[in-house]
Amino acid sequence: MTARFPAARPRRLRGTAAMRRLVAETRVRPADLVLPLFVKEGIDAPVPVASMPGVFQHTRESLRKAAHEAVEAGVGGLILFGIPETKDAAGSAADDPAGIVQKALRDLSGEFGDDIVIMADLCLDEYTSHGHCGLLTPTGAVDNDATLARYASIAVAQAAAGVQVVAPSGMMDGQVGAIRTALDEAGYTDVAILAYAAKYSSAFYGPFRDAAECAPQFGDRSSYQQDPANAMEALREVELDLAEGADMVMVKPGLAYLDIVAKVADSVRVPVSAYQVSGEYAMVEAAAQNGWLDRERVIIETLTSYRRAGARQILTYWACEAARMLR
Ligand code: PBG
Repeated sequence: MTARFPAARPRRLRGTAAMRRLVAETRVRPADLVLPLFVKEGIDAPVPVASMPGVFQHTRESLRKAAHEAVEAGVGGLILFGIPETKDAAGSAADDPAGIVQKALRDLSGEFGDDIVIMADLCLDEYTSHGHCGLLTPTGAVDNDATLARYASIAVAQAAAGVQVVAPSGMMDGQVGAIRTALDEAGYTDVAILAYAAKYSSAFYGPFRDAAECAPQFGDRSSYQQDPANAMEALREVELDLAEGADMVMVKPGLAYLDIVAKVADSVRVPVSAYQVSGEYAMVEAAAQNGWLDRERVIIETLTSYRRAGARQILTYWACEAARMLR
């Protein structure tokens, strides 16, 4: 005997917009979003990034304007990336108190009070002439432990300039511990660490390397960034970073790694961030320019998928625009 009526009708809860809103399991709030911003030394007008329409390398002045816009839109945080005028093998501009990110941090930290959280990416690749995330040995390998001392010094320089959260992204072993110790010894016990804990060696970073002018001059980053084939390894990286003192952990990229976001979110008791990286942004912008995708719907749908997977914060170049759409 076949039943006359379906026993259950999930469609009852989908029939109207008000009902769908009432039963929605996941919401994205403007405060969940973190806007990455690029600030470049030695330019007198913002420079558009060709592979990331709508994204600019900022001057200190245009950076302040962009930060104001983010505050007005209700965005939760900013993360700064610096592009120095001169680069060398040691990435000396990264921890120079007069370096571009330190100047920008001083500009912003006085200005915004408690309106937004100010973070800085902590790495060497934007500052080194060779484009790698660490110091090199004479044979061109990345020297893990020598690099840790550089990261420690950058952390202290950023803290002195007013950063609230440092985000080490270089994937050196022991980087979180080295940075925590240096911050504590210098008296910056309140500066938090958002560890890029599970950062994959990804082709989705392509456009960022234009924006930050940091493509490696030889080789690639696969001796320090993770193999996309591995999930268990991400959990180990997260465990190590938490043991070394990370306050929050990040998975990067996001869209092709939502399984990792979900696994990490299930396994930790700290906020999990995910980075919607430059290539994810560029793909959608390019398709939308061709009229092939409904851009705004795709933006909200992808951000919702990040939240559904368990990300608490989402770093996204669409932060301002998405925050406005979500209000
Ligand atoms: C390294 C860093 C990178 C990104 C953030 N921090 C580049 C890399 O590892 O090559 C990529 C961000 C993006 O693609 O949007 N400092």
